[in-house]
Amino acid sequence: MQPIAIQCVEEYRVDPALESRIASLLSRSFPGYPAERTYFMQLPDFRLLATWDETLAGHLAAEHRVIAVGGTPHRIFGVADLCVEGSFRRRKIGTMLLEFLERMAREARVDFIILIASERPFYLRNGFRSVGNLCRWLAIEDFQTQMIIQHGLAGDLLIKPISGKVWGKGLVDFMGAIF
Ligand SMILES: CC(C)(COP(=O)(O)OP(=O)(O)OC[C@H]1O[C@@H](n2cnc3c(N)ncnc32)[C@H](O)[C@@H]1OP(=O)(O)O)[C@@H](O)C(=O)NCCC(=O)NCCS
Repeated sequence: MQPIAIQCVEEYRVDPALESRIASLLSRSFPGYPAERTYFMQLPDFRLLATWDETLAGHLAAEHRVIAVGGTPHRIFGVADLCVEGSFRRRKIGTMLLEFLERMAREARVDFIILIASERPFYLRNGFRSVGNLCRWLAIEDFQTQMIIQHGLAGDLLIKPISGKVWGKGLVDFMGAIF
């Protein structure tokens, strides 16, 4: 059987045909995902795509950004829209996508991989930990900047240290929208 292949595609290289395949996987994976769209609020910087033969089996979007934790700047990869096609689940494709991103993060001098998720057990098994910091981010809805929100994320903020830097206890300023 052919192995799963993972590739990184910068967002500006996503052509309409690929965009349509990604949108289709996202709409099947996340109920209520905006139709025919490949992002919720803002375009990511790149995507990791897992393919088997010609089939798009898994997807992860990532933003490369600086955020501040207690006033200390950290370089991060922020993960969004990690999903695996239903018939391919529980074959470690989600895990492979996160491992691929971690290798990229180590090469890119990223301090933390972070994400916001309710599927906590999957991420905890993949080396993430839940943090309870107060957070500040830019709220965007229907293509409009709404306001700046300051709120906790009830343990749904998950982080994975990459560079050895310490994650502080202060306010997490996303310096933009959340992922
Ligand atoms: C979450 C998701 C990406 C996992 O991808 P995957 O390729 O199936 O995950 P892996 O095979 O690498 O890891 C499987 C492990 O994760 C956990 N896990 C994955 N999906 C799970 C589920 N639906 N319920 C409970 N545990 C789950 C289990 O511990 C499982 O280990 P096991 O098979 O040994 O029991 C996939 O289920 C998915 O696309 N879900 C729908 C979209 C989604 O919720 N994405 C996460 C956004 S926060």
